Parts: sequence; structure tokens; C-alpha cells
Amino acid sequence: MPEAIFQFPRGFLWGCATAAHQVEGGNSNNNWSKWEETPGKIVNGHRSGLACDWWGGRWLEDLERARDSGQNAHRLSIEWSRIQPEPDRWDDEALLKYTEMLRWMTRNGITPLVTLHHFTDPLWLSERGGWESEDTPALFARFCRRVVKTLKDYVNLWVTINEPNVYILSGWVEGVFPPGKQDLKLAARVFTNLVQGHSAAYRIIHELQPEARVGVATNYRSFAPAHPGSPLDKLPLGFVNQVFNRAFNNCLVDGKVDLVFKKYKLPQAAGTQDFIGLNYYTRDVVSFNLLKPGAFFHQRAFPAGAALSENHFIANVPAGMWDGLKWAHAYGIPIIVTENGIEDSRDTLRPRYLVEHLHQVWRAANYNYQLKGYFHWSLVDNFEWERGWTQRFGLWGLDVDTQQRNRRRSVDVYERVCRENGLSSHMVAELVPDVLDALFPDH
Ligand code: FCB
Repeated sequence: MPEAIFQFPRGFLWGCATAAHQVEGGNSNNNWSKWEETPGKIVNGHRSGLACDWWGGRWLEDLERARDSGQNAHRLSIEWSRIQPEPDRWDDEALLKYTEMLRWMTRNGITPLVTLHHFTDPLWLSERGGWESEDTPALFARFCRRVVKTLKDYVNLWVTINEPNVYILSGWVEGVFPPGKQDLKLAARVFTNLVQGHSAAYRIIHELQPEARVGVATNYRSFAPAHPGSPLDKLPLGFVNQVFNRAFNNCLVDGKVDLVFKKYKLPQAAGTQDFIGLNYYTRDVVSFNLLKPGAFFHQRAFPAGAALSENHFIANVPAGMWDGLKWAHAYGIPIIVTENGIEDSRDTLRPRYLVEHLHQVWRAANYNYQLKGYFHWSLVDNFEWERGWTQRFGLWGLDVDTQQRNRRRSVDVYERVCRENGLSSHMVAELVPDVLDALFPDH
């Protein structure tokens, strides 16, 4: 059979994404380390501990794995509590360590994308109110200045803040992240401060490095009505789409905040994104429920029939990736898929999830969306926040006790994609045959 290939644009970035706290280990100076010590906060009482021991030096072997399996990019984050361990103390050695990593990456053909805030805050900052405090945006900007000054020779792509929507929802609405509150007023205040922090960082990065490209990574969740055409389902659907998916990025376009029940202006935020970072994992079906006023009369469930991940955290709905890409495209600026992946310790669903989602990404590229890259979450199993070690997102598995890595079958799939810069029918026939007919109907 002749080979068909869904080819990606030349120069496409292929990599994985990681976050400092989830892989580095050995940190007792941020709010998450404290949160992990509090009984009942993390599933099974798990702790990040040594994590993947990147701080101890294992970043090198893992990034070698990435390089040797054809990846040409990597997304990582800088841990604020290491760079500024106390309000009036900067740790240049810590910064040097990141410099080493980034230098290694650029010398080894790995384009870095660096996140400046990925869920964790220095302990001293959270003791001062963290992002509830209006002093925090300026403190964050000061931290960014220090980091960008040092690292700009190696980094062109910056994400200021990872998933402001998840950070707020988990910390101030659901209360499963620190500070564990359920307070909508404070949530709105944190929203404002994150926008201010982002805008200040955006300006500083451009001042220091005019050619840099700066964005945020948004967790886009695809929402579909339980009863298409039902005017009742439309209400909660419009609400969750606006508040969760759109509010933050929209404000970075025109400086207008629209949280449905609360509208105001933050003019300094207008025009502060150069690309859209899209984190897509799954879709929810949304219905109106009069019995749930606390949840704005809405109820969510995974689409019927969709394959679910091991712990039912994610449903495999590739069409939702398409929704996310369409949402991103509407901003008219380049798009980077900054996260996408599935928890699957046995690697039974991941190969299929990966290929089906990449197919949607290819479709978008084929429509000439300005797609620049794809970062899989994640390279190696790592500490999954309040879900601890129960969820395994790595292309490589990790034995937390021995630090042993094991290569999953998905690495073969991703390696072929990266090396061919495309999805080929031969690869799919060989490695993920159950999706061959759907993806290549005429093969
Ligand atoms: C995203 C987070 C990332 C990781 C994945 C599974 O929401 O940005 O740190 O936990 O989910």
C-alpha cells in the first residue's frame, strides 16, 4: 500500500512539557510543599519528594531521552522560590542551573519554551497573601526581569502564567489547590492580579528582548450541550465558556474583563499576547440543573461512549481539540499547543489518544492556522498536584522509589511523528492499527 502522510509545516516544534515542581524534587520553600504536608490534601498522602530528581541532575538524562527520540523542543518552568528564596535574597546559583539546562538544550537542537509561573508560589509570597495581594504583580514582574535578563540568550518563547483559569478555579473555587478557598470575590481579585502580573511581565520581556514571543497557556476545556438545541443548556454553556475559556485571553486583547456577573476594565492588559498557548485535554457535556444553584445551575459529565482514562480524569474526545484550535485561531495570532496528554500507566489508550489528537492539530495546520508547535504532557511521569502519583502522564514511566524510567510504546509513536514531521499511514498501520481506517479511510 502506498504511504499517505499528514505533513506538518516546516520548522514545527515537537516536544514535551514539564513544570518545575512536578519534576524537580527537593523543594520545601514553596506553597505546594506546605500543602503536601497538610493531611488530607493530596490523594493517598502522596508527596512530590524527589519527584523526577531533575534538581539532582536527572534533567539531563530525561532531555537526552527527548533528543534521542527525535524531539526538537521542550517546555519547562522556572521555580520562583528557588530564584528568590526570600523577599530580599536572590539565588544566582539556582539561576545558573537553569542557564545550564537551557544552554544544553540549545546546543542539542532543543528549542526551549519557558514558563515563568506554573501553579507554585514562594512560601514567603503566599504568607503575604500570594495573588490575592495587589503587591504581587509587581513582585512577579521583578522576578521575571531577573530571570529574563539572564536567560534571554537561550529563550525566545515565554509563557508568563500557566493556566490562570485552572489556578483560580482550583485554588479559590473548588479549593483543591492552595490556598484551598471557596470564595468568588477573592477569585475575581486573583483574576485581576494575574492579568496585571502577566501584563507587567509581558512589557518587561519585550523591553529586555524585543524579538521575544510571549503568551499565556490556557486550559481550554471543550463544552458541549447535553441536549443540542436546548435553550436551557445554552445558559450554563455560555457561562462556563466565557468564564473558564475566554475571559482571560479576551482581556489581553482589549483590556476588558467580562466575568458575566462582573465587568470592568484593565486597560494596561490590552495587546499583551503574541501567541495563544493551548492546553487541551478533554470535553464535558453540560446541562442545566435547577438543583445546582451553587454551581451556576450547571452539571457536567463526560460524553457518553468516550473512552475514559485510567482514573476517569480525561475522556478521549479529539473533536474537542478541534474546538480549542478554532477558539485559538479566532485571536488571529500564532498558536502553540502547550499541553495535551492522558494519564495511562499501562499505555493502553495513550497511543490512540496521541494520534487522534495530532490528527486534529494537523487539520488545523492544513487550514493554514498559524500553528507553531505541539508539546505533549508529559515526558516522564511526574507529580500530579492534588492527585499525587496516582496519575501517570509520561511517555516514559517512572518508578518513584528507584528513579528508574521505562520507555512506553507511545514513545515509538511520538518518535515517528517527530522524525517524519507528520502522521504517516505506515506508522499508524504499524503502531496504532485500530485507528487506521478512521484516519486513512482510503488506505
Ligand atoms: C494541567 C497542568 C499540568 C498537568 C496537567 C495534567 O492542567 O498545567 O501541570 O498537571 O494538567
